[in-house]
Amino acid sequence: MNIIVVKTEQEIGQKTGDLILNKVKENPKAVIGLATGSSPLSTYKYIIENSKKENVSWHDITTFNLDEYKGLSGIHNQSYRYFMTHNLFNHIDIQKENTFVPSGMIESDDEVKVYDEKIKNAGGIDIQLLGIGVNGHIGFNEPGTSFDSLTSVVDLTDQTIEANSRFFNDKSEVPTQAVSMGLKSIMNAKEIVLIAMGENKAKAIKELVTGEVSTDWPCTILQNHPKVTLIIDEKAASLLD
Ligand code: GLP
Repeated sequence: MNIIVVKTEQEIGQKTGDLILNKVKENPKAVIGLATGSSPLSTYKYIIENSKKENVSWHDITTFNLDEYKGLSGIHNQSYRYFMTHNLFNHIDIQKENTFVPSGMIESDDEVKVYDEKIKNAGGIDIQLLGIGVNGHIGFNEPGTSFDSLTSVVDLTDQTIEANSRFFNDKSEVPTQAVSMGLKSIMNAKEIVLIAMGENKAKAIKELVTGEVSTDWPCTILQNHPKVTLIIDEKAASLLD
């Protein structure tokens, strides 16, 4: 595991953005896995600025997002589709039909199973961007999730609902379920880059790097992946030796 510790959020954006932009430059048809939350915002800002500056085209790139709240449509301002549209897709030349975010508006839980097939048919994910929850979740794979899980409907823990309530008017508005790529779906990516900022992520980062590999901390599964880079700030790294 490659661990890069930086000082500022801006540097996280720059280093992570460069990793992703290099994939796009190397292979204009690359498949990129994307994430939401506050952690990737500086990365998306950097990607937008530098795609313009360096004339990097996203026209033939395909993207797959990790997750979506169940019950929120893509026009709801807290949906992850909305987040991606406004924080990235509207500002690069990607074709919207090549951007995939799991649908939160499903009628049966079985509908979500096609997501992994779609990823496979696109050739698999070349690089997957990840954030991390304070409880070590990746995507919305909460503690206890099977390491063999594929994309499915998942229950959110109270801790996650509480943590994410800052984006909603009220905690009661936060959906209690989500559609998330599974841990196996994430591990299928050829390369993974995980970003984390702030002291509240320090424990999860310590578990990720040095903890026993266990479903109690879903992030520990990444110890079994051959190509992972962590790009984290000093606060998130503060419990590492
Ligand atoms: C949500 C998302 C995760 C994300 C996490 C951390 O729960 N489902 O994919 O990693 O939040 O978010 P933040 O970066 O805002 O701390």
